[in-house]
Amino acid sequence: EIIDLKDKYKDNFDIGVAIPYKVLINPLEMKMVEKHFNSITAENEMKPESILMDLGSYDFSVADEYIEYAKEKGIKVRGHTLVWHSQTPEWFFKDEDGNLILKNELLSRMETYIHDVVGHFKGEVYAWDVVNEAIDPNQPDGYRRSLWYEIMGPEYIEYAFKFAHEADPNAKLFYNDYNTYEPKKRDYIYNMVKELKAKGVPIDGIGMQMHIGIGTDLKQVEEAIKLFSSIPGIEIQITEIDMSVYTDQGSNYMSPPYEALVEQGYKYQELFDILKKYDDVITSATFWGLKDDYSWKNQTRNDWPLLFDKDYQSKYAYWGIVEPTVLP
Ligand code: G3I
Repeated sequence: EIIDLKDKYKDNFDIGVAIPYKVLINPLEMKMVEKHFNSITAENEMKPESILMDLGSYDFSVADEYIEYAKEKGIKVRGHTLVWHSQTPEWFFKDEDGNLILKNELLSRMETYIHDVVGHFKGEVYAWDVVNEAIDPNQPDGYRRSLWYEIMGPEYIEYAFKFAHEADPNAKLFYNDYNTYEPKKRDYIYNMVKELKAKGVPIDGIGMQMHIGIGTDLKQVEEAIKLFSSIPGIEIQITEIDMSVYTDQGSNYMSPPYEALVEQGYKYQELFDILKKYDDVITSATFWGLKDDYSWKNQTRNDWPLLFDKDYQSKYAYWGIVEPTVLP
């Protein structure tokens, strides 16, 4: 019998999944989404490049279909993402001659964008990844050299939260990033969020993406959860879970590697044992894809990072977080 994930974790946190539009319009796959998940994220469809047509001009038609579906089924929607260096049109940062705009102009464009988008989804998107991937531990001040940073300096981050809060005071606002458990990056994120909180910036939590592999040191993940949750008033959401079967860069399996899939089952068990331990601060855990063949990790090489395989069958990964006693 296939146990519903969301029921299994109902006393701990929400269980979410990121889905592309092709899944949203596939009734069979949406049955599976409804069975296991009580939160969804649009994998690409709420990003600026998907909805921003021109300054002040938007196409919300696809994004609205996610909202309609979720409303009908009583499922929550996480919004992803407002301010990011990627998947944002280049022209957004430029004037008509193709030169980079100045700080005040970008600030005003950001204000309009966030007010319009968060305002459009007000009361329907319950949580937003307001700023995504702004930390780069290799920079002397820890901030990624994105166009946002180059034009506005690090203050762009607090402005983004302020504008989002103005547009929907009830939405939960997150700073979201990957490799949040990597010690140097973890400290930069901790210090930044602690300072934002201390300054009264309306930030509610940290999104830990969790694009990991079977070799990731989960002790570091636990350290990050402990550190982040020590900031008063900060909650944690695990926003983009997937687990590569590789431990190195070079290799590329042609078919599912049995031993790695078993190992992945145990590793998923270990991860969720940690998450459950901190379920007073962790409010949601979202998988970055429904089934292996839909994962972004297949863009570069074959991978099997999720709970279900291409034929919709539950993997050891699934049993690891549902009934680990059945693992071989
Ligand atoms: O839609 C076009 C299509 O028209 C075109 O023919 C095709 C050719 O490459 O590309 C399609 O766009 C792709 C898009 O996904 C939609 O499928 C892009 O190439 C591809 O780069 C893009 O990848 C997305 C990636 O973000 C881009 O940064 C992944 O689906 C998405 O899973 C991934 O998600 C990110 C999170 O937003 C932030 N955290 C990391 C995570 C994984 O990279």
